Amino acid sequence: MQQTSHLRRFVIVGHNATTAGTFSLNDLAGATGRLDVLLRCVNSALFTSHGIRQDTEVRLLLLGQPNAPKTITLKGREIKHLNPDERSTAALLKEALNKPIFGNSVGAGPGISVSRAIFKDILADAAKDSKLIALKEDGTDIRAAGLAPPLTFFLSDNRDFSDDELQALKDAGATFISLGPKSLLASHCVVIAHNEIDRTQIL
Ligand SMILES: C[S@@+](CC[C@H](N)C(=O)[O-])C[C@H]1O[C@@H](n2cnc3c(N)ncnc32)[C@H](O)[C@@H]1O
Repeated sequence: MQQTSHLRRFVIVGHNATTAGTFSLNDLAGATGRLDVLLRCVNSALFTSHGIRQDTEVRLLLLGQPNAPKTITLKGREIKHLNPDERSTAALLKEALNKPIFGNSVGAGPGISVSRAIFKDILADAAKDSKLIALKEDGTDIRAAGLAPPLTFFLSDNRDFSDDELQALKDAGATFISLGPKSLLASHCVVIAHNEIDRTQIL
């Protein structure tokens, strides 16, 4: 593992999130399997007030209908045309979902790619270059954990992780971390996790 990396990666599991680019940009919380939750996570992960977090990567695991699972990856260092509103981010994801996937991964514009990676693939990839952190309400308090990048945070969407996902995280050696006493929206967790790491780093 490369210990000098500043990498912060956020993996969000969209248990019902659509795997097709046919949805309407006018109904992002409706027929998309709550893609809106993931769109807010992208915003929280990549934006600061006046810029993009260069060392941050987001991976959205989409497990909904009508196709086999897909993973969309967005890299802060490379991404272009990303704006803070959900609708324009949704348009970028729609384009990615309309790309035929040949081989491991297909580019879908600067800093965006789409693949057939599933949970265990994402875990295995992340373990190569970062410490694995499962964000969970009943985990160890983040302020007692002494975390430093490179880190990959795993979050669930508007639901809990499934039993299989929890087992895979445990098997991969993930550390279970809590951000505080209340169960929060996934996108808010991303901001808090960033902020906790920001406070420990000299930027
Ligand atoms: C909206 S919550 C999950 C749903 C919620 N447990 C429920 O069904 O009532 C979304 C995700 O954010 C993360 N999360 C929420 N609150 C958290 C906390 N206090 N500490 C760490 N992670 C948290 C977890 O990954 C959780 O699965």
